[in-house]
Amino acid sequence: MRQVRIRTALVGCGAFANAALVPAMHAAGIDIVAVCDPDAARADATMRAARAGAAYAEMSEMLSAETVDAVVMAVGPTIYPTLAKQAFAHGVHVFVEKPPAITLVEAEAMKSAAVKAGKQLVVGFMKRFATGYRMAREISQEGNFGVVKMVNARITSGVWTPAWSKTLTPFSFVLDHSVHFLDLMRFFGGPVDWVSAIKTEASDERFGFAVLLGYASGAAGLLEISNYESRGVPNERVQITGSKGASVTVENVSRVTYNRDAEPMVAGRVFSPQRERLVWEPNMTNISAENASLAHMGYVGEMRNLANALTAGLPVTPSIEDGIAALALAHAIVESDGRRMNLQSTGELRNVAVH
Ligand SMILES: NC(=O)c1ccc[n+]([C@@H]2O[C@H](COP(=O)([O-])OP(=O)(O)OC[C@H]3O[C@@H](n4cnc5c(N)ncnc54)[C@H](O)[C@@H]3O)[C@@H](O)[C@H]2O)c1
Repeated sequence: MRQVRIRTALVGCGAFANAALVPAMHAAGIDIVAVCDPDAARADATMRAARAGAAYAEMSEMLSAETVDAVVMAVGPTIYPTLAKQAFAHGVHVFVEKPPAITLVEAEAMKSAAVKAGKQLVVGFMKRFATGYRMAREISQEGNFGVVKMVNARITSGVWTPAWSKTLTPFSFVLDHSVHFLDLMRFFGGPVDWVSAIKTEASDERFGFAVLLGYASGAAGLLEISNYESRGVPNERVQITGSKGASVTVENVSRVTYNRDAEPMVAGRVFSPQRERLVWEPNMTNISAENASLAHMGYVGEMRNLANALTAGLPVTPSIEDGIAALALAHAIVESDGRRMNLQSTGELRNVAVH
């Protein structure tokens, strides 16, 4: 068990920081010693909710006055590149919420600043820590599963404009919403060599993409992303298929089905404890901190991972490398228009700004 508690400062006291990060940091045993936000009312309210000792209007002022190991930023990708560089100048590790930046050039500059400062730059892809996705990854890495050959996923939504973006565009939607799955596709299938996507649109504000991914391993990926549906209904699904007759499915974060290599249903078929299909769902009948939705959704695990790795002096993943890979995928998907986009050389995507 970790004995030392890490000291953090929170940058950005908006909706998401209050709904998810502050309670997840508390659950993970992380101290929030100070908060900052130019909106004084938000900073003050969040200081109380976070049980922090001080509220500031501006990050550099906060970091000059406080001694912390890391800053946790929940502001938006238009400002993370500037704030991260300022935070590294104060000698602290940086956690930024997704997405880390708008352009690849900015994200690469953030990485260089972290390397130069000798500090870690962590990106908030919390779905990697969701119970169901962790379970699916572990199953897909077992010897019985063979090698991952297909990753088939969908994440959809209703219409909304990202808090950090002035307008809703296909790019701001993909970067804000679908970026979680751009990271998960790599989490399950490994590095992606190329991507091809076609866009479908119903209006200026309703659109989607059908995406084909070629993995470096030779596996294939299929991803559907859109805002044609509703924010009010569950809308995530991932299926990972291995090379030995098995697949694992995660539906809406909360139901994992391990389809093993069962016998067809024929006369005389016997039940096989080793080969039948297994289903997991969270046990919501038992009070436990680990049964809280913030834990099953991955927010608590993400913060625990941050605290444990920083305490042990180990590299933290997902890092800015993963952020850069997801950002490259987002740009490539929006740019593709049916073309195969090579992700080994992202030259043509590096200076693409906002679509
Ligand atoms: N992982 C997830 O599930 C998830 C969900 C929602 C949002 N997010 C991410 O969280 C981030 C914040 O989103 P939100 O919905 O809370 O936005 P928000 O607009 O509600 O909050 C952002 C806050 O940052 C403050 N701010 C602006 N400039 C600042 C600065 N220079 N220093 C300090 N604070 C500053 C604003 O005043 C505001 O209070 C975004 O990166 C978003 O993509 C992640």
